[in-house]
Amino acid sequence: MAKTDITKASGDLYLDHLTKSFGDFVAVDDLSLQVPQGSFFALLGPSGCGKTTTLRMVSGLEAPTAGQIRIGSADITGQKPYKRPVNTVFQNYALFPHMTIRDNVAFGLKRRGVKDVDKQVDDALDLIQLSQVAQRKPAQLSGGQQQRVALARAIVNRPAVLLLDEPLGALDLKLRRQMQLELKRIQTEVGLTFIHVTHDQEEAMTMADTVAVMNNGIIEQMGAPTQLYESPQTAFVANFLGQSNLFPAKVVEGDGDELVLEDKDGSFRMPKSRMGRNVSTQRGAKVLVGVRPEKIQIAPLDESAPPPGDGNFVDGVVENTSFLGVSTQYEVRTPGGDIIQVFAQNLDAHGVIPVAARVRLSWKPVHGFVLDGSQDIDAGVEIDPDALVVS
Ligand SMILES: Nc1ncnc2c1ncn2[C@@H]1O[C@H](COP(=O)(O)OP(=O)(O)OP(=O)(O)O)[C@@H](O)[C@H]1O
Ligand SMILES: [Mg+2]
Repeated sequence: MAKTDITKASGDLYLDHLTKSFGDFVAVDDLSLQVPQGSFFALLGPSGCGKTTTLRMVSGLEAPTAGQIRIGSADITGQKPYKRPVNTVFQNYALFPHMTIRDNVAFGLKRRGVKDVDKQVDDALDLIQLSQVAQRKPAQLSGGQQQRVALARAIVNRPAVLLLDEPLGALDLKLRRQMQLELKRIQTEVGLTFIHVTHDQEEAMTMADTVAVMNNGIIEQMGAPTQLYESPQTAFVANFLGQSNLFPAKVVEGDGDELVLEDKDGSFRMPKSRMGRNVSTQRGAKVLVGVRPEKIQIAPLDESAPPPGDGNFVDGVVENTSFLGVSTQYEVRTPGGDIIQVFAQNLDAHGVIPVAARVRLSWKPVHGFVLDGSQDIDAGVEIDPDALVVS
């Protein structure tokens, strides 16, 4: 039988119990996942969680301490980087400054000895919509244009897997949003497997078919963006992906289909289908009750507050409001002293409920979630770097 040509391997990408240690420090810890061929996969997590290390192992720049990497049935774990059907686009694009855009894009093909590269290069330039500047040098392009060239330079090689390590990190916010759409369009058009590393949760959610949330070298949860957002399994995911109100509570009743939970502001009901990982239903077990700010209805207490028994509710006092046009964000202080965030769509003409007003907050049991109570309630809460600046 002919020896299989690794450079032509195709299929799903498998990481199988992949581990990378640097001395005593475990940067990637027994990580296993499958990325379907042709999908847009995002690896999302805070700085230092092991995203780049994972990509470097896939590209062959870093040797795993343990575990296996496969594309389809081909084991590429020990292969030299240039033999793998994998290309990487880095944050700093690293274009060759002395070469034209066209030569930059053609570089990989020519190095591999491909003859007649013109058609493929033309197609790649078309794809990124930069045919008209093919004769310029990189310095004569904008940041976003350079980023697209870096992408074309990788795509032209038709790798089985394209790795993108914070490729939009150097761009300003507006350009970044434009490029997200662009990148998604290009991926759909070429149908290659994209693995996109980012610490921007919005970016991961808007672009990817599947998001893996990574923390301390492990994957906390993996799934479609809506699934991760609606049904977080851990406090880290609940806080890192969007915002969550989380409260410590304990199980009062856990025998039926529904859990009855109690915290210092009252009792709450929750279907058992809304339980995250490792939640105990034993009476007295510690849990975290979660509800997203936009799932909560807010109403002045004196008017048409829904009657108790309709769902979960808690009364409180408005402590802060921010009118954002499409929505108003409220901070409501409960009798127990917690702050609950509420995002209310501006549907009513009555306008913003004022600070110091007494309000009733209510939400459907199915809109909440319950997490294991032994976790750090603030895990994954993003620290605002600006808030740390002492002036
Ligand atoms: N060569 C190395 N030697 C020792 N430690 C390393 C080495 N490379 C990475 N690390 C450590 O491994 C951890 C993961 O690093 P990695 O670069 O994968 O993080 P990341 O998720 O890409 O973070 P960022 O979002 O900041 O890029 C970090 O704590 C880092 O300091
Ligand atoms: Mg990194």
